[in-house]
Amino acid sequence: MANPKLLTISGSLRKGSYNRMLLREAVAAFGAAEVTEADLHLPLYDGDLEAAEGVPEKVQHLARQIREADAVVIAAPEYNKGITGVLKNALDWVSRVPEGAFRNKPVVVVSASAGRTGGETAQFMTLSCLTQLQARLIPGAAVLIAAAGDAFDAEGHLKDATSRKLLADRMTALRAELA
Ligand SMILES: Cc1cc2nc3c(=O)[nH]c(=O)nc-3n(C[C@H](O)[C@H](O)[C@H](O)COP(=O)(O)O)c2cc1C
Repeated sequence: MANPKLLTISGSLRKGSYNRMLLREAVAAFGAAEVTEADLHLPLYDGDLEAAEGVPEKVQHLARQIREADAVVIAAPEYNKGITGVLKNALDWVSRVPEGAFRNKPVVVVSASAGRTGGETAQFMTLSCLTQLQARLIPGAAVLIAAAGDAFDAEGHLKDATSRKLLADRMTALRAELA
């Protein structure tokens, strides 16, 4: 059987993003897969732009990637106790694609943040948006990487064994959904 298609979505655009590091760890824990990283460099949602030109091709491409993926992992950083504009903008845009994107899609959300709560509020808000989009949220203990600047070693691996175990459990649960 072909490897499952796994799409990763980072709510941070930064090259050195801890959330992108966390996604790389999630991919490794998921096991063999055809992995694609989504590009959230999208225009800001604007109803006038949508009315004049329709949904931009970059958004349609993202929606197709989500639809065609067997599973999706989202890393949601926390900005000012909320979801980042980058991630919310992407979720808003894909919700405007008539064919839909996330409906019934197996999704796990993880977070890394500088603060002590590991982005818990942003993760909660992301899960709330995904509920509205009818994603199939795979339950499990929350993966919240606090003090992210100290959480990864020089190779980008999670230092803490408990965090590694939580992430591995979530990725195992996600993979089991595809069987
Ligand atoms: C505008 C802004 C707001 C932030 N607000 C929070 C916050 O509410 N809670 C938190 O834990 N970290 C906050 N941070 C710090 C981020 O967690 C930190 O920059 C983190 O590295 C962002 O994720 P990234 O490494 O994937 O880019 C904020 C950072 C920025 C730029």
